[in-house]
Amino acid sequence: MIASRLIVDCDFAISDLDRRVFGSFVEHMGRCVYTGIYEPGHPTADADGFRQDVMELTRELGPTIIRYPGGNFMSGYNWEDGVGPKEERPVRLDLAWFSKETNQFGTNEFMDWCKKVDIEPMFGVNLGTRGPDEARHFLEYCNHPGGTALSDQRRAHGYEQPHDIKFWCLGNEMDGPWQICRKTADEYGRIAQETGKLMRMVDPTIQLSACGSSMWDMPTYGTWEDTVLDHCFEQVDFLSLHSYFQNPHDSTEEYFGNIELTDNFIKQTVAIADAVAARKRSAKRIMLSFDEWNVWYKARSIEDLRKPGWPVAPRLIEEIYNYEDALVVGGALITLMNNCDRVKVACLAQLVNVIGPIMTEPGGPAWRQTIFYPFSQASRFGHGRVLRPVIDSPSYQAKTFDEIPYLCASVVDDEASGRTTIFALNRHLEEDMELKIELRGLGADRVVEEAIELFNSNMKAINTKDTPNAVAPTYNADVRIEGETLIAKLKPGSWNVLVTRAKK
Ligand code: AHR
Repeated sequence: MIASRLIVDCDFAISDLDRRVFGSFVEHMGRCVYTGIYEPGHPTADADGFRQDVMELTRELGPTIIRYPGGNFMSGYNWEDGVGPKEERPVRLDLAWFSKETNQFGTNEFMDWCKKVDIEPMFGVNLGTRGPDEARHFLEYCNHPGGTALSDQRRAHGYEQPHDIKFWCLGNEMDGPWQICRKTADEYGRIAQETGKLMRMVDPTIQLSACGSSMWDMPTYGTWEDTVLDHCFEQVDFLSLHSYFQNPHDSTEEYFGNIELTDNFIKQTVAIADAVAARKRSAKRIMLSFDEWNVWYKARSIEDLRKPGWPVAPRLIEEIYNYEDALVVGGALITLMNNCDRVKVACLAQLVNVIGPIMTEPGGPAWRQTIFYPFSQASRFGHGRVLRPVIDSPSYQAKTFDEIPYLCASVVDDEASGRTTIFALNRHLEEDMELKIELRGLGADRVVEEAIELFNSNMKAINTKDTPNAVAPTYNADVRIEGETLIAKLKPGSWNVLVTRAKK
């Protein structure tokens, strides 16, 4: 057994947690939309063709905001194709995923779906094949009350009230050679600046996010952010980060290094954004939107990314998540929460089928992948302010990162409900961890309300259609309170959620 300490103090908070860090992502890619959230004719489909089994799982997963319609798809999308009478909508080639896009699902259907599941939408505009003119028109169609050609078109389409979409992404991964109409940092920075300017003229209440690098190891990471923000600093509120975690050494210990790398990525990006602010003598702080993140390394071959013959909704990147992937996703959530002073929005990419926590079969069932659990628990209990964690834990050395503490943890304190929640990963793969959590100043008279653990002795265990509960949370009985200290035994290689509340 190893021993670790986690100390927090009620007076030392990092920041309030923006609930939008528990976001997700729906792209017109593979089976995320078609046979994912939308499948007319499915036994559970409602009158709009939305799968109610997927809606139920989405509610349980608990995303607070969902990015749409892409991804790479965004850079070739004509928003006009996806509105109005369905029978008049064109079928188009989608050059991002070499598929046929039927446009049977578009902006208004997505807004209807968001209302039904009570989730805020996050939209993106096409800065690949298109530009400022279409972006301002799209925004006018969505958000302008009426009395103009575009807003009246929306009303004629059955949406009298404006959609009032607040969060807009200015393009997607514009630095990537794979992107439709990729741009240099100067080209993109200028177009983001002008597009942002026009969009704010149409609706000054929106928030705008500029594209950061499409991954940390892009050769232009750093200079891209610097140049882009140099152009559009005044127009944007957010800069985006994307990261897909890999397991190149097939070693759980090395794989955990992704959690530390994510922390580094965030802190370095903050430093770059603040350097631009310093150069501009500005007190403005650009916030981060980590609007694509997840584990993605198994389904990455060319066959996973593209199917011949321009099919409709092919099976693309349907990553099957195992138990160790759930641990890494849990660790990433801890990192996002611990950086909540600058990361205000984050999206688990994607929601269904395409690297998704939810899987479906066309005409068949829907089930939870392993990564579903840490996300749903973080969203359920991640309310309030994040306290600054002081971690005293033995550590190990890895190739990916020099010093990795076995304990990875975040503490969220919710004054409204009186709950304090500890999210903790024991990264030791053989030893139990005795964890002492000192909750200083949070009241000695406490009870343990919930103690949830996700543990499996097989790191490669998966959930399937036929065995949907192979990996599922259980209760940890080994948790007690002594004064201000919570003492818990964490199993080797386990994810834990400990909820405590001051006695009423
Ligand atoms: O999420 C899958 C794809 O990964 C997205 O379309 C793109 O933005 C990223 O490269």
